[in-house]
Amino acid sequence: METYSKIINGNCIDELKKLPENSVDLIFADPPYWMRTSGVLHRVEGSEFNGCSDEWDNQFECLDDYISFTRNWLEGCRRVLKPNGSIWVIGSMQCIYTIGNMMQELGFWIINDVIWHKKNPTPNFKGTRLNNSHETLIWAAKSSKSKYTFNYKTAKELNKDNVTEEEFQKGVRKQLGSVWRIAVCQGNERLKDKDGNKLHSTQKPQELLYRIINISSKLGDTVLDPFGGTMTTGAVAKQCGRNFTGIEASPVYCQFGEKRIANTIECIGDIEKAVFDIKPPKVTLQDMIANNYFHENEKMFLKNSDKYVTLLGSGRVVLPDGEQTDIHTAAALLSRRKAARLNGFDYWYVQRDNKNVLIDEIRNNYRKDFFAVLK
Ligand SMILES: C[S@@+](CC[C@H](N)C(=O)[O-])C[C@H]1O[C@@H](n2cnc3c(N)ncnc32)[C@H](O)[C@@H]1O
Repeated sequence: METYSKIINGNCIDELKKLPENSVDLIFADPPYWMRTSGVLHRVEGSEFNGCSDEWDNQFECLDDYISFTRNWLEGCRRVLKPNGSIWVIGSMQCIYTIGNMMQELGFWIINDVIWHKKNPTPNFKGTRLNNSHETLIWAAKSSKSKYTFNYKTAKELNKDNVTEEEFQKGVRKQLGSVWRIAVCQGNERLKDKDGNKLHSTQKPQELLYRIINISSKLGDTVLDPFGGTMTTGAVAKQCGRNFTGIEASPVYCQFGEKRIANTIECIGDIEKAVFDIKPPKVTLQDMIANNYFHENEKMFLKNSDKYVTLLGSGRVVLPDGEQTDIHTAAALLSRRKAARLNGFDYWYVQRDNKNVLIDEIRNNYRKDFFAVLK
């Protein structure tokens, strides 16, 4: 898959203005949290803790200053986002309420907020408050009318949070929830500077981006990160066969990020292609009759009952009282359910070699025979 990765060194508020309107499918933004840290933090045994006290995080004079910064970059993101695109913004307790409020003011439509529950959080060294073990992500569409991408079944495939390994092996899949247990970035994944120290204080784990990119974008889509840092988003975007544009104010982070992306190998499998979410092609009973998978005037028997209908060449059926209707309405009427229609493919059986066969099974065979993509 031919994709591009572009890194722009600059201030995202200016650089976003230069990008074409409605041009990106997905945005991941990890802005300065404005942690308001001061002084030196020590571990319990006395050593200094190297948290986030960077200049880029402490560049704000007051809340109004941070609000205005947040408005400016979010407006820029909204302009470049396609009408059906979506944005993820990550933040901590210090900033996420300001950001969420501004997103709603600007017209973004919040889809979910997700808790990233850290498996290995930094302790609260002083013991003066709860151990802060999560960050919050807001996932929002450009507007309430956006038909944003959500690979629902792919998300289920990625969900190992509340399914045991044994259940998963047996094919059990559960909806992905909004609390994600992921470790903070560590080990070989953590980029080091030329002296062997951690390059960036807030490098995000690839696993987090892997989920986000694969559940909310498609192969070949364009992903933008206005606060690229070490280009975690860019590396994962490339790995997953997505195009990438990253903006970052620090030339040093840009250089390291460039190398990181260049060393990343594309690795595209079922998750990246979201094959689980590909809808099977629509086929009609009339098509299947024309190709001898069903026969005009054959009887269809209702599940768990001796009631039957007779199939017409048009794909409609005749009820015992002579009325004609479709298989879905017929299923609801004869099974005396409250619904006006049921999925007829789950209710009607035909006889094949003296055995009852669900018509959905025959439809699956038809699809396999006629549509190579399912083979
Ligand atoms: C929270 S960090 C992002 C870390 C990144 N997600 C990663 O995994 O490495 C925020 C980054 O935004 C950059 N930054 C701060 N203000 C900026 C601005 N106005 N435009 C572009 N980059 C900015 C900082 O240099 C910092 O690297």
